[in-house]
Amino acid sequence: MKAKYLIKQACIMLIFMCFIACNNSKIKKENIGLKNAATFPIGTAINISTLLNDAKLQKLQIENFNSITATSDMKMHAILPAENKYNWKTADTILSYAKKHKQRLFGHNLIWHSSTPKWVSEKGEKDSVWLDDFMQQYIKTYVNRYKGKVAAWDVVNEAFESSGGNYRESFWYKNLGKSYIEKAFRYAHEADPNAVLFYNDFNIERDTVKLNAVLDMVNEFKAKEVPISGIGFQMHIRMDIPDEIIAYSLKKAAATGLQIHLSEVDIIFNTHNDERLGGIQNYSVLRDEMKQAQAEKYKNLIRMYKEIVPKEQQFGVTFWDFTDRDSWIKGFFNMKDWPCIYNDSLQPKPAYYGVLDGLLQ
Ligand code: G3I
Repeated sequence: MKAKYLIKQACIMLIFMCFIACNNSKIKKENIGLKNAATFPIGTAINISTLLNDAKLQKLQIENFNSITATSDMKMHAILPAENKYNWKTADTILSYAKKHKQRLFGHNLIWHSSTPKWVSEKGEKDSVWLDDFMQQYIKTYVNRYKGKVAAWDVVNEAFESSGGNYRESFWYKNLGKSYIEKAFRYAHEADPNAVLFYNDFNIERDTVKLNAVLDMVNEFKAKEVPISGIGFQMHIRMDIPDEIIAYSLKKAAATGLQIHLSEVDIIFNTHNDERLGGIQNYSVLRDEMKQAQAEKYKNLIRMYKEIVPKEQQFGVTFWDFTDRDSWIKGFFNMKDWPCIYNDSLQPKPAYYGVLDGLLQ
């Protein structure tokens, strides 16, 4: 009887010790900070005013990240809202935050159909010669102002249709033809020859037709000596996108020899049609097993990046907002979801530890 009692007590003690050890390792791991566990830069995209007005968010941002991207504040509509009225204030604030906390500043973005101000599209539609010249002036003025300060740029964002291999019939394409893309790279390079210049797009990790079209463009650029230095995989992925396809796509892109940036990482459970308000709410509650599965998915993503992309091409991994509270997903697709590594209360999710495990492996 006594022996039985002692065994039971020993078991309880063992479980208790395991629990403590487990918790301690979580605490220790959390204290490491993602950036210190990584062999490449770890970034986050963020809204600077949200960041500066939230001390807790800022603490987490500083602990975990050594690269920063503006979610919206460095796009054309923010930088040049009206003709000849450059607004550098917010970009300067981001730059001084980056400098103060020794973070790499990533420039997102120079040319994107979605952030073209109305005054530019109205004028450009009527006069493509003006538009061509405007694009050159804009890129050179902007890149030159932050020369040596912005380490890298998404020079052109999303120039291909959401799915398939066609160039996007955007305002820029319609008025300047596809050559606007290579011109944008040349202008950016002329303004800052040391900046790392990216083409950035979404769905290229899952849509192989789209990926092939982007890679054809990259190869064409290389043959014509267009100064492109990297490919940005936005990596807004979904739980059911097979890891095998992601691995295949990363391998194919890495074979170009260019820098590879996972530039806008988040992982959703629900689905959408890529359009604003196009969400489909399959899951409205986040259950524990979903959290664990998301942690595994994050871990695998990091692991694939480390294993497939050669070290010298690992430009880094950037999370697109890092809290469920601030993520763009809910507002944009009008659906509830939990795409990030921190939750609504700014607590680390299992996903956070998934990333950390992936980095530490
Ligand atoms: O700043 C105004 C604020 O004054 C106003 O009260 C509020 C009301 O709607 O809107 C605020 O602006 C919003 C802005 O984000 C800043 O939060 C815009 O409406 C909103 O459209 C804008 O959305 C951004 C979107 O790009 C369009 O620029 C998202 O935050 C940003 O996460 C998203 O990022 C894109 C990448 O650049 C490219 N890849 C896809 C990714 C997600 O859509």
